[in-house]
Amino acid sequence: MASNGIIDGNHGSRPHKFDPNFTQNVINATGPKASPRMRKVMASLIQHIHDFARENEITVDEWMAGVELMNEAGRMSTDRRNEGQLVCDVLGLESLVDEITFKLASDAADAPTATAILGPFWRKDAPVRKMGETIVFGIDNGDRTYMHGRVLDYRTGEPIEGAELDVWHTAPNGLYEQQDPDQPDMNLRGRFTTGKDGKYNFYCLRPTSYPIPYDGPAGKLLQLLDRHPMRPAHIHFIVTAPGYKPIVTQIFDRNDKHITDDAVFAVKDSLIVEFLPYKGDPNADFELPYDFRLASYDDASKHSLAGTTEESASGFSGQ
Ligand code: BEZ
Ligand code: FE
Repeated sequence: MASNGIIDGNHGSRPHKFDPNFTQNVINATGPKASPRMRKVMASLIQHIHDFARENEITVDEWMAGVELMNEAGRMSTDRRNEGQLVCDVLGLESLVDEITFKLASDAADAPTATAILGPFWRKDAPVRKMGETIVFGIDNGDRTYMHGRVLDYRTGEPIEGAELDVWHTAPNGLYEQQDPDQPDMNLRGRFTTGKDGKYNFYCLRPTSYPIPYDGPAGKLLQLLDRHPMRPAHIHFIVTAPGYKPIVTQIFDRNDKHITDDAVFAVKDSLIVEFLPYKGDPNADFELPYDFRLASYDDASKHSLAGTTEESASGFSGQ
């Protein structure tokens, strides 16, 4: 028995350093009107954060430093910057919940296109552009790229008509347009809709690697963990189509030097692509062929894929 009279229930006769009933008391305070999901998830969260605090013997000063970090992230966040999300990103949490949310039948060779995190720089209502147009404006440097391919039903291989590709990437200076007063509004963004053949094509740039914003709490965390802020070169997409599960994804340049050490842990092998030299087109130095494969809601529910109903995939389909 310890001097405070607390006996360890889990470790034989070794005395507990801390009140063994405390965590259960906090969990038990949940009232009867809490939803079942809230009750379950929060009980688990309380258990884990209490265990974390006990295991690491977190002091009041250390806890307060964490609270300050969260507060600062809140103060920095605007409609152009989501610092809370960025903090989660450097901890790998957005990539992990992406994997959990969109876990599919990964053993199928022809599985739907893998997903990747949204990140904080997507903007609603990107310009609708005609097939074959460019998304590059007011930029003279950078490698012009002709990207093209099809949007297909992953099970049947049939082209999907009316699929929308929402695309965005950074300028060669490593900035998204909303971070950069020198770029036109909505630069390097566009939405394209496929016709009957499921085909799409447009001009963009071969992207460059860039640092995630590191002048706030996320950057402070990276510094404290002796980590760099770089992301490998990538292009973001949200692909939606009537009757199909939307996908949020990114494709990554195989030759980028950060392909194996993404600051936010989002790279998946199946999303790594090759930019090919392109001859004979005065508007492009590189070609990037890429097909997207979507699962229909019917198919998803038949094969127990995640997000099997239109309602459960809310967010992007009704943009
Ligand atoms: C991005 O790729 O846009 C991104 C993702 C996570 C954190 C910061 C940026
Ligand atoms: Fe990005």
